[in-house]
Amino acid sequence: MAKRPRLDHHLTPESFKNGIFLAPMVRSGALPTRLFALKHGASLVWGPEIVDKAILHAERVVDPITGVISYNGKSRAMFTTHPIEKPYLIYQIGSADPELAVQAAKTVMRDVSGIDLNCGCPKPFSTHSGMGAALLTNPDLLCSILTALRAAMPPEITVTAKIRLLPTQEDTLKLVERIINTGVSAITIHCRTRNMRPRERALVERLREIVDFVEGLGKGIAVVENGDCTGFEDAKRIRELTGAHSVMIATAAESNPSCFSSSPVLDVETTLIPSYLRLGKYLENHWSSTKFCMMQIRNAKSSLSKTDAHEFRTTLSRAKNYDDLLNIVGEWTGETEFQAIVNAIRSRRGSVVPLSPAQSQVGSDDGEWPLVCTPPNRENPEPPSSKAPLGPSTASKMPLPAIITGSDALTPTPTPG
Ligand SMILES: Cc1cc2nc3c(=O)[nH]c(=O)nc-3n(C[C@H](O)[C@H](O)[C@H](O)COP(=O)(O)O)c2cc1C
Repeated sequence: MAKRPRLDHHLTPESFKNGIFLAPMVRSGALPTRLFALKHGASLVWGPEIVDKAILHAERVVDPITGVISYNGKSRAMFTTHPIEKPYLIYQIGSADPELAVQAAKTVMRDVSGIDLNCGCPKPFSTHSGMGAALLTNPDLLCSILTALRAAMPPEITVTAKIRLLPTQEDTLKLVERIINTGVSAITIHCRTRNMRPRERALVERLREIVDFVEGLGKGIAVVENGDCTGFEDAKRIRELTGAHSVMIATAAESNPSCFSSSPVLDVETTLIPSYLRLGKYLENHWSSTKFCMMQIRNAKSSLSKTDAHEFRTTLSRAKNYDDLLNIVGEWTGETEFQAIVNAIRSRRGSVVPLSPAQSQVGSDDGEWPLVCTPPNRENPEPPSSKAPLGPSTASKMPLPAIITGSDALTPTPTPG
């Protein structure tokens, strides 16, 4: 009998344990940021929250040169991803409607490994329509969305939820129990309440009881701490303090997407920012997105003198396109930058990075792994990124990247210790 390929590369509740994750961040969680986070040790990465309806009618376009997959809306790309991140990518949905949430998840599920429901955003644009933190006080709706997602998604796609603490511990535990019973693989708890401001200290001391409670339920579901973690070393401290299975980082990763590493890049002006620009240009990430993310990258202590640092920041903020920053970048060696990321991800312990069909024992209907080098005399097609013109209609018929992994694939397990 022919040997059946093992398709065990997908995430399980165990994949959400012993990890250090990039948090979902609107605007800041762009594709280059996620790739840098993965390169520097993030175990899993969350995409920015995208409201269910926003993705429904998007056209999926693949850049045959870089492999970037773009979900183009009417006037702009709603979401861009790359197959290299698929084994580690969680797509976050904003929703107040089980059916729409399911439709949104079905739209993107071929390109992601998990679906997360945002139950924590306190901003009025989210809460006024019943989404985000509004779900915390509407647990029936919250749980019906998770139940619908779990029922509709194939088993290899995880369903998870990200919540905030409720004002009382008793109510938080009740909500957590209900969420766990919907069949989620993990729950992230942002240790602030809905009314707390980002600058207020996260109430991490409340988490231990919640972790113990979830463990007591005996389902093996991971509890992910979120709030105030500054990086790899701090993640160890937080795990010890709270007992959380994993830690998720937002603001610190926005400032330095290499903070997941035990030896993060400290020299942001001469190393990280030029790398970010090179990668952004190579992937044709929309300039406004790259500029926004790049402007967030900073170190508490710059390696430049005060005057040089000021001049550097002024140059960045005045730039109107990639080429305005050629002096900072030196050379546009984005392909090399991208290849370094591919290599770093492939060399991870238990890597589940997609292989080309030739390397993989598992065939793919999607054809070949995309070229990672631009052949001479070939320009990339339309930029597949935010506010970009739509991709050519034939692009969706072009060979798509292989997204199925080899037979030895395991779940990703780099640990913060
Ligand atoms: C720029 C930015 C964008 C964010 N966007 C989202 C989002 O899309 N979905 C979400 O659940 N939380 C979002 N958050 C909240 C973070 O994921 C996280 O819960 C919060 O910042 C606390 O983590 P921290 O203390 O590490 O920053 C965002 C935070 C920031 C700073």
